[in-house]
Amino acid sequence: MIANSDLVLVAGATGGVGQLVVAKLLEKNIAVLVLTRNEAKAKQMFEDRVAIAVGDIRHRNTLSTVTQNVTHIICCTGTTAFPSSRWDFKNIFQANNSPEEVDAKGVKNLLAAASDLKRFVFVSSAGVLRKDQFPFNLLNAFGVLDAKLEGEKAIASSGFPYTIIRPGRLIDGPYTSYDLNTLLKAKTDGKQAVVIAKGDDLNGQTSRIDVANACVECLFYPMSENKAFAIINSGNKSTSTNWEALFAQLA
Ligand SMILES: NC(=O)c1ccc[n+]([C@@H]2O[C@H](COP(=O)([O-])OP(=O)(O)OC[C@H]3O[C@@H](n4cnc5c(N)ncnc54)[C@H](OP(=O)(O)O)[C@@H]3O)[C@@H](O)[C@H]2O)c1
Repeated sequence: MIANSDLVLVAGATGGVGQLVVAKLLEKNIAVLVLTRNEAKAKQMFEDRVAIAVGDIRHRNTLSTVTQNVTHIICCTGTTAFPSSRWDFKNIFQANNSPEEVDAKGVKNLLAAASDLKRFVFVSSAGVLRKDQFPFNLLNAFGVLDAKLEGEKAIASSGFPYTIIRPGRLIDGPYTSYDLNTLLKAKTDGKQAVVIAKGDDLNGQTSRIDVANACVECLFYPMSENKAFAIINSGNKSTSTNWEALFAQLA
């Protein structure tokens, strides 16, 4: 169970899910340390509400001091599934920031830099256990699901308590043009009901708002520890999301 004295490192904090995770942690009065490759971008985004550490998960040597005093890590880093400028190509054959570099090697670097964690939360993807099935076979054409699964396996065998979250195609955001106050005001849950299930059997879309909520809410429920679950949105939400009831389904 997380306490107000804990410190949560959010990797990928400047991304769509990551920004919402930061806003949600602040709403719950939990101290946040943001890991970013771009200090100016993070400063502009989060003002003086969070501590900022500069690091790149591809480079282990940039992470060792960052993880000191950190009790929890929420890892929402990611790159595109298909080649794009975000892969940061060295040359036509070699990408610097491919899924293999970020979702597999980067996650292993974060794990190696951490000690005594109370929880490592990882935003993975639907399809990691169905890579040979449509549409995941197409999604995995450049290895994003292979890399996510490699990251997952490293987390599960790290010895740290973990929660692995497997969303479907992400909707809502990314909120890259929003400032922190706007995000805090946009704290209302997504409009559709949240469905979660152990394993990797759900099909559908998932709101970034609910992925971020799951990343933070799971820290409050020991029954979500050492679990990997899929999350989608389906149907209208009549009341606020009952995360305790949802996580109880994972038992
Ligand atoms: N898009 C989908 O439909 C989908 C479906 C299932 C799962 N997912 C996963 O959901 C997660 C969140 O998605 P999103 O769309 O919210 O992400 P996003 O907006 O693309 O953000 C990705 C974040 O990762 C950071 N990052 C990338 N490479 C990094 C590196 N080498 N070192 C440190 N940070 C790095 C980026 O930082 P910069 O600001 O410095 O670039 C950014 O903060 C990702 O893991 C994604 O794979 C996505």
